[in-house]
Amino acid sequence: MGIFNCVFGVIVLVNMIASEGKYGLANGLSMNYYIMACPFADGIIKNTVNRALQSDPTLAAALVRMHFHDCFVEGCDGSVLIDSTKDNTAEKDSPANLSLRGYEIIDAAKDALERQCPGVVSCADILAMAARDAVFFAGGPVYEIPKGRKDGRRSKIEDTINLPAPTLNSSELIRMFGQRGFTAQEMVALSGGHTLGTARCSSFKSRLSNFDSTHDMDPSMDTQFARTLSKTCSAGDKAEQPFDSTRNTFDNDYFNALQRKAGVLFSDQTLFASPRTRGIVNAYAMNMAMFFFDFQQAMVKMGMMDVKEGSKGEVRNNCRVIN
Ligand SMILES: *[C@@H]1O[C@H](CO)[C@@H](O)[C@H](O)[C@H]1NC(C)=O
Ligand SMILES: *[C@@H]1O[C@H](CO)[C@@H](O)[C@H](O)[C@H]1NC(C)=O
Repeated sequence: MGIFNCVFGVIVLVNMIASEGKYGLANGLSMNYYIMACPFADGIIKNTVNRALQSDPTLAAALVRMHFHDCFVEGCDGSVLIDSTKDNTAEKDSPANLSLRGYEIIDAAKDALERQCPGVVSCADILAMAARDAVFFAGGPVYEIPKGRKDGRRSKIEDTINLPAPTLNSSELIRMFGQRGFTAQEMVALSGGHTLGTARCSSFKSRLSNFDSTHDMDPSMDTQFARTLSKTCSAGDKAEQPFDSTRNTFDNDYFNALQRKAGVLFSDQTLFASPRTRGIVNAYAMNMAMFFFDFQQAMVKMGMMDVKEGSKGEVRNNCRVIN
């Protein structure tokens, strides 16, 4: 029994060291960061996310989107979780917050973690792990992520300008993600996160009328699908349109929708309309395993964007408030 445990432990440790080498981690991150200080951190977060998704499956999309927003603004440092104060308007109150929600899941996980190992697990890590678990519980790939992010001390509404707008075309997306170190293929894989969730009419209505000087509607869009979008928008700017036919399931149907010219945002459909990215869309539409593999790699990479280390960050006591 003792020997078995010991051998098993060695195998686990060897596996962890091996997977760590694969990513060449910097910034003090590591796959087994909490193994000594908070060994049950993973399980606590998984349970919290699982319970939340069982009562509301649409929260999977919310968690993935929140992690993306966090990383693209000031790096993955939990800045998106900060509440505004009298003297500071935070990121989450930007019009670009795109109806972010799911903050209560992060709070619940943080509360449970603080009871087990106070002051150890950062809010940025909780969010990164929660997004990973949301992908898994929605039917997507299971993957391990490096941990050890520190929480940032800045959250300003003006920083949200760094988020990619839904009106960007393929070349602009390639350039914007390229500046952050992503290839065009990684950008398309990350866009595949839209396999979960919905968009509000306010983010696609510009495709439906007076599109440009020569088009009434966005010509990259199927005309029948344009009628579907118009119908959605008849309920107002906040009305939601699912990105694909399986909004709570992580699959490759999003890419099938692009092939049918039924992408919801201009920034979705442009991936198929442009010859620079169409081949990648076709490949992911045909091969879900390839999409899953590329997505998890790109998520690990995104999760390491501008990570705060050492004294550049802190472990917040409350995810909504800078210590
Ligand atoms: C998003 O921003 C709007 C203001 O543009 C604000 O009214 C709303 O409360 C914000 N949403 C969240 C979840 O903070
Ligand atoms: C993308 O948008 C930029 C800036 O608006 C424009 O210069 C460029 O021609 C567009 N590219 C395509 C392929 O439409």
